[in-house]
Amino acid sequence: MILDDNDNIKHKAKNIKPIELNSNETELDRSYDRNIRPKTFDEYIGQESIKETLKISIEASKKRNSSLDHILLYGPPGLGKTTLATIIAKESNVDIKITSAPALERPRDIIGILMSLKEGEILFIDEIHRLNKVAEEILYPAMEDFTLDLTTGKSQTVKTMRVPLKKFTLIGATTKAGALSGPLRDRFGVIHRLEFYTEDELSKVIKRSAKILNFKINDDAADEISRRSRSTPRIANRLIKRAGDWALVKGDGIITKQNAKDALDSLNIDSKGLDVTDREFLKIIINNYSGGPVGIETIAVALGEDIRTIEDVIEPYLLQSGFIQRTQRGRVATKKAYEHLNIKYTQNGQISFFD
Ligand code: ADE
Repeated sequence: MILDDNDNIKHKAKNIKPIELNSNETELDRSYDRNIRPKTFDEYIGQESIKETLKISIEASKKRNSSLDHILLYGPPGLGKTTLATIIAKESNVDIKITSAPALERPRDIIGILMSLKEGEILFIDEIHRLNKVAEEILYPAMEDFTLDLTTGKSQTVKTMRVPLKKFTLIGATTKAGALSGPLRDRFGVIHRLEFYTEDELSKVIKRSAKILNFKINDDAADEISRRSRSTPRIANRLIKRAGDWALVKGDGIITKQNAKDALDSLNIDSKGLDVTDREFLKIIINNYSGGPVGIETIAVALGEDIRTIEDVIEPYLLQSGFIQRTQRGRVATKKAYEHLNIKYTQNGQISFFD
């Protein structure tokens, strides 16, 4: 790659904001989050087979006295990719530097961070599918041979330098493994897909967080919050705080099933965890397009959301819980979606009735 005289390749900044699942979180929420985030594999609930494989890799790298292979973690937002990366660092007794692809816009951003890494240290790059081409090309030899190939100057005066780096581990996280270029994906020795959590796992996460936050919660209340958390711990942890507030103000401080229901109803989160936007998404397909198929671009315009948010945040849960299907011709609402919204099931304009 070529750097200009100012070490500054002109890369068209796309002005993309990172997606936030929870954009109205407060400073108090963030300090709660730091406390409840699990710090070891023992504290981390769920993703059992990933944990087992990672434990073996960490143990082996300690025995070999070598750095861990580069690891790619992918899956929908909120399932714990960053948390797992910090646990991997802690369990390997190494430091971790955390960044995200949109923060690595200029070559000097990624070069600077790579050169600062100590032996064995972990570099975590979130949203790695959004890395620009130049940054990606800097990463290839860094990941493969722990070197930087730098070229400075212009045509006649070009100088090439090969700079050695310390042996580090890159952990990349993405919501879209398919959007990663082949060469980048191939440089990860280990690739793990994080799965949605079961209701039981999520109840355990909720009870653990409640304990740390000093909330008293009944078992059936934890189950109720779990059912409405879109199989996602980040959402469960947000909802438990809202249910805790509700219990404090409207009840005697204990989160009961009724408190939890009332708090979540007031947030317009329904019995399956769908919020206003999810329901609107389904209604657009059903009411405006006879249940589909309809293209995502069309839905995005009608919903007033960008396609990326729909693909990364809204759709994964609707797909996995069977409310929609993705076909070559677009999105289709399933019978389950009609039933959930209390709309008579129609397919290709044919009205059919519930049994
Ligand atoms: N908080 C968020 N994710 C968690 C997990 N997987 N286990 C325990 N607590 C969590």
